[in-house]
Amino acid sequence: MSHSPDGIAPHGGQLINRIATPAQLQVFLDKADTLPRVQLDERSLSDLEMIAIGGLSPLTGFMEQADYEQVVSDMRLANGLPWSIPITLSVAESVADSLTEGNWVRLDDPRGRFVGVLELTEKYRYKKDHEAIHVYRTEDLKHPGVQVLYNQKPIYLAGPVWLLERFPHPHFPAYQIDPAKSRKMFQDKGWKTIVGFQTRNPIHRAHEYIQKCALETVDGLFLHPLVGATKEDDIAADVRMRCYEIMLEHYYPQDRVILAINPAAMRYAGPREAIFHALIRKNYGCTHFIVGRDHAGVGNYYGTYDAQMIFDEFEPGELGIVPMMFEHAFYCKRTQQMATTKTSPSTPEERVHLSGTKVREMLRQGELPPPEFSRPEVAKELALAMNIYSYEI
Ligand code: ADX
Repeated sequence: MSHSPDGIAPHGGQLINRIATPAQLQVFLDKADTLPRVQLDERSLSDLEMIAIGGLSPLTGFMEQADYEQVVSDMRLANGLPWSIPITLSVAESVADSLTEGNWVRLDDPRGRFVGVLELTEKYRYKKDHEAIHVYRTEDLKHPGVQVLYNQKPIYLAGPVWLLERFPHPHFPAYQIDPAKSRKMFQDKGWKTIVGFQTRNPIHRAHEYIQKCALETVDGLFLHPLVGATKEDDIAADVRMRCYEIMLEHYYPQDRVILAINPAAMRYAGPREAIFHALIRKNYGCTHFIVGRDHAGVGNYYGTYDAQMIFDEFEPGELGIVPMMFEHAFYCKRTQQMATTKTSPSTPEERVHLSGTKVREMLRQGELPPPEFSRPEVAKELALAMNIYSYEI
């Protein structure tokens, strides 16, 4: 791990900033009506944002073919640097045909607003089955990441991008802490070791347990819930953020925790995404990253600890961030505390680990999940959200 007075080095050594300067912005705005347009979907918009703020350093844009091929086959960029998830922009053949390499393309958000510019350096075809098998380890269309991949258009556009402006997050402006800022905050707090936590689910006791186990050994905890696109039946980000606010208020040492949003979209790529999530947190300045059970998994596509084992495919120290692995945590009735089989002598009958499905069933029947699973304040918030939004939690 390479440290400097500014903390841990970003992936590739330099924190990327692709937010247009005022002068660049003026040039882009002057040309706005003459540039060919490509409309981004929610995921590509997240990718554009993540690239621009340096969350995906060293990427400066959507991947060219050499990077893409190597990432898919070998989990490396063309220059050999570890990278596990393709960052790409797909368009229809007719759109690709209308664009000329070397020119600028105007990028519009899903609502048609001008948000960025792509300097088109390459357009190329790709094989969906090849990408699916390598990145997701399955071609099953029921897998939400594979589904998105197979719904993509057939040509990838590549090249450096600019985000026109750093727009404030519409729902969580107070928690919009970009990598340059989180790095500065860690430094100001004097934290040398910081553990990052990825999550897309409402916080429960097992999350709290592994976060606090980690926090026992490092200076700070960077709670970094993902608020980009998730699959439809995942809980809405605003509900999850409220649960985190409640937890911070009642159950966490506030001076040792920073809550911030991760604007990335979820891929559900399990092991590959665990590497990706770790590299993103490295860019935010974290020195450590939590990987628990079935990290970024969905259904039964990945083994419980596949997302931990994949870290062994890299040389020690090569990723530049230290994974902190945790076994499946549960409430142990015998010792009356959270535990894993590493620390608890319990029999399986003495362990409370509820599945998300079971918790949903309980909430649907008007029951609150037990305090062994969820802090009561969080359980109430989930029940309330279920009534207000009348969607399935
Ligand atoms: S994820 O898709 O973002 O990984 P989730 O929000 O459920 O989903 O998990 C966040 C982190 O907590 C992941 O590292 C995951 O492996 C870990 N985790 C979730 N539940 C448990 C558990 N019961 N025991 C150990 N780790 C867990």
